[in-house]
Amino acid sequence: MCGGFRAADAGARVRLGGWIHRTRDLGGLLFLDLRDRSGLVQVSFDPRWATPEAIAAAASAGVESVVLIEGEVALRPPEGRNPEMATGEVEIRAASINVVGPAETPAIPVSLGKGEKLASEELRLRYRHLDLRRPELRDNMILRHELMQATRRYLDEHGFIEIETPILTKPTPEGARDYLVPSRVHKGEFYALPQSPQLYKQLLMVAGFDRYFQIARCFRDEDLRADRQPEFTQIDIEASFIAPEDVYLLTEGMIAALWRVAGLSVPPKFSRMTYADAMENYGCDRPDLRYDLRIFDATDIVREADFGITRSAIEAGGRVRGLRIPGGATFSRKQVDELEAIAKSAGVAGLLRTKRVSDTLDGPLAKHLPSGAGEKLGIEEGDLCLLVAAPDASANPALDRVRQEVASRQGLGNGASAFVWITDFPLFGRDAATGALGSVHHPFTSPHPEDLAKLESDPEHVRALAYDLVFNGTELGGGSIRISDPRIQSRVFTALGITESDAETRFGFLLEGLRSGAPPHGGIAFGFDRIAMMLAGAQSLRDVIAFPKTTAARALFEGAPSPVADEDLQELHIRKQ
Ligand code: AMO
Repeated sequence: MCGGFRAADAGARVRLGGWIHRTRDLGGLLFLDLRDRSGLVQVSFDPRWATPEAIAAAASAGVESVVLIEGEVALRPPEGRNPEMATGEVEIRAASINVVGPAETPAIPVSLGKGEKLASEELRLRYRHLDLRRPELRDNMILRHELMQATRRYLDEHGFIEIETPILTKPTPEGARDYLVPSRVHKGEFYALPQSPQLYKQLLMVAGFDRYFQIARCFRDEDLRADRQPEFTQIDIEASFIAPEDVYLLTEGMIAALWRVAGLSVPPKFSRMTYADAMENYGCDRPDLRYDLRIFDATDIVREADFGITRSAIEAGGRVRGLRIPGGATFSRKQVDELEAIAKSAGVAGLLRTKRVSDTLDGPLAKHLPSGAGEKLGIEEGDLCLLVAAPDASANPALDRVRQEVASRQGLGNGASAFVWITDFPLFGRDAATGALGSVHHPFTSPHPEDLAKLESDPEHVRALAYDLVFNGTELGGGSIRISDPRIQSRVFTALGITESDAETRFGFLLEGLRSGAPPHGGIAFGFDRIAMMLAGAQSLRDVIAFPKTTAARALFEGAPSPVADEDLQELHIRKQ
């Protein structure tokens, strides 16, 4: 391979193939850098060892053409050595060249000259075969491969077996996000692509495969963000006779093995935080714990203040919570206004600001506060305090976003890393618009045994045996212990307003399984692309997926989705509107 030649190879006769990365024509003497997946090597065409025809052929071959070269490995003269190149001590003295894959002028540059910028991402996605030749993307693909092998090795060593589950599956009840596939042979009926192998992996437990895993492709037709793709890969895991502790232990080891692939280490044990604490202290269920900056409750301190905004919010059942920002007193008015705009876009009316300068509190709320409030609020000299007077449902997202923005402005947590398990999620949540009770995860998640009695009387306070792994504010994975007792499953369905016959039509095959001798079981799934993105230090999932979709869910390379001819649709019993 091109990247493997070293001084010890000097004298060897070689035949090698690769892509012309760049050429330097010194008039009669020509150098080209030959590239393959392993790296670059310099090839020299010199009248002393190459025929004039070979030199002419090398000079006229375009960059990115594929060539076969025969020659001899030689040490470069001392002044020609390049310590920045792995093969920088040697060159290939070419005797002949054969242009086997001539290339048209590349649509986007692969090898960037000095000061040359990358092509736009749209063009790079359109010409993905060229973009994938760049060392950055090549290295990301190789890292992805290594992570996949490490995952398989680790889980195999721990007794897990890899089983594939179908891609053509049954549409799910909350089918809005399903990609549907029409059946040609069954008129008017559809398959769905799996959003995850959830039901199958549970059925595998019922079938007795007590440790299963799969590197599973999942499909979700949801709104995209930088950390979401419509098709993505999960490390999907399920095991029988386990408790959450077993899942933590197993997967902390797996994460450590994956981080090792990238030359990184992880703490011996990951910290834990309940969902309730995460929401109270950080306003979200995936807190970035690389920095502290906690939300605190100031309701009792400002309760007596004669100030309309806080009083009416508290009377309406809301609280006054906020952030103390060390050193924040130096933020300009404009900077604080920007933070307020962020809070408002998350749904609150505004941010109340108080800062402490020269021992006095400043800001609209300050003069209404009783004496000594500054100490009680814990505001120190130079601090800025930002408060939100609102119900938790809007205060939480607002304070979460302000917290993240402050951290990014102040460079908090840079260079650090923080894993945390978020535990004890609520089993149910209410839809803000309709008030209907829905599952926070999915309806097969086990209630916490201590809360079973509340399933009917106080469902909103039932905790789930569910957990998420969060890394630097991103959810890497999530899972739960499942319901294996059909009686509990039907109580959960009732709480969700799903009738027995409804449940049979929607997930009859799982229920049948649970009634046929189901072991207690549970599992987890990790976002494989997200892990690869973090470990590659990439900014987008698109940089770790060979052929990704854009944020508009388009594949620019092959041009999907695309219209289909009417005759083809007819055969599928579909009519265009
Ligand atoms: P969940 O829906 O939380 O759980 O998905 C598990 C993990 O998959 C990743 N992920 C995504 N990655 C890229 N693009 C997306 N659109 C996307 N959506 C999710 C996230 C997430 O943490 N069946 C359950 C798992 C279980 O209970 O065992 C499930 O799918 O990193």
